[in-house]
Amino acid sequence: MKKNVLVVGGGGREHAIVYSLAKSPEVGKIYCIPGNAGISRLAECHGNIKATDLDGVVAFVRSHPDIYMTVVAPDDPLAAGMVDRLEAEGFRAFGPRANAARLEASKSFAKDLMKKYGIPTAAYEVFTEYAPARDYLDNCAYPVVLKADGLALGKGVLICEDKAQAVDGLKEIMLDKAFGNAGNTVVIEEFLRGFECSALAFCDGKTIVPMTTSQDHKRALDGDKGLNTGGMGTFSPSYKVSAAMEKRIYDEVLLPTLKGLIAEGVEFKGVLYAGLMINGDDIKVLEYNARFGDPETQVILPRLATDLFEIFEACVDGTLDKINVEWTGDSAVCVVLASGGYPEKYAKGKKITFGALDDGVIVYHAGTAFDEEGNIVTSGGRVLGVTALAPTLAEARDKAYANARKITFENVHYRTDILKELV
Ligand code: AMP
Ligand code: GLY
Repeated sequence: MKKNVLVVGGGGREHAIVYSLAKSPEVGKIYCIPGNAGISRLAECHGNIKATDLDGVVAFVRSHPDIYMTVVAPDDPLAAGMVDRLEAEGFRAFGPRANAARLEASKSFAKDLMKKYGIPTAAYEVFTEYAPARDYLDNCAYPVVLKADGLALGKGVLICEDKAQAVDGLKEIMLDKAFGNAGNTVVIEEFLRGFECSALAFCDGKTIVPMTTSQDHKRALDGDKGLNTGGMGTFSPSYKVSAAMEKRIYDEVLLPTLKGLIAEGVEFKGVLYAGLMINGDDIKVLEYNARFGDPETQVILPRLATDLFEIFEACVDGTLDKINVEWTGDSAVCVVLASGGYPEKYAKGKKITFGALDDGVIVYHAGTAFDEEGNIVTSGGRVLGVTALAPTLAEARDKAYANARKITFENVHYRTDILKELV
């Protein structure tokens, strides 16, 4: 019998997860909380419940006995213990429990784990008081990186060129509480150079299986200018990472992370994501996430040849060693269409027009909703992710941009330089 699944979240990542689950012959009805306009074509969306509403989600699952498994995708509900709450009531859930999600929710926990288990990362100090942190800035090397300890919507990282900037930044985090309680503890770390790569892996608590590599573009504007965003576009595989380097990422980062967690008595089930900085032969971990990346998922899952639902089942059951996770030979590029002004102030409610899109193109919805007349309108900063699949990255890039140009809404903004370096 087919199994019904609830997906928690409502962005492009969740659309990609729902899209892949919908292809599984084992999956029946899909529910999504809160979902969005695109997801509603594949799943029954419940926009009145928030992804962060633990009581609301648990009550929903309780009142829908047909739900076989809940997939918790975003960081906040994972860190708050949504999986723990579901399991406590005997429900099946995919995602790490709160003690494992700390790998993302507490940067000091992550840094200390890396130090203890010899996982390469930037040199750092952790401070819980302002005065010693302030003193540290007198003698450290610049640029330096300040990180608020907790979850801060990806904004709690400040790269400071000199002491004056660092003193301002530290005050902002620790005294003015610009990121709220996330800034009660601060990590001050060495600035690293190189290129970034996202290494995601499926994990069942005992076995860790790497996904294909990908690369995000975090800054809002071309040439890596402008503010940090949730991610403006991705490609997969990361052509800068050789097979030998991929093996080293597994041996030196992913496996030791899992072993370290096990040694600490932490069972990590779900998606483990290591954000890496690579410089020549040097691999260092910038951060961990305890979930799928957004928009990395929008280029990774379309390349997955194995049934995603089967992988989720294996992660929950601890049988990942029995599964062959395989990838198609395609390359994928995702261009994010954002509302002008994002990540700062932007307008909502702008009508979106979709042209006739080419084969091999998937438009994942992020911030979209229906207006009263049933038109699809913008409802968030990142609105759509246009993913194209092709035999090569350059072809996928051209196809993603050609199709992105067919979609219009007032004041649409996207980066035009993704993979520009490839001919
Ligand atoms: P994080 O949330 O730790 O990934 O930080 C967000 C972004 O800040 C990263 O994707 C990097 O672009 C940048 N970043 C973080 N830590 C460092 C570092 N130690 N050196 C250079 N850049 C960094
Ligand atoms: N794209 C970066 C993230 O999901 O954290």
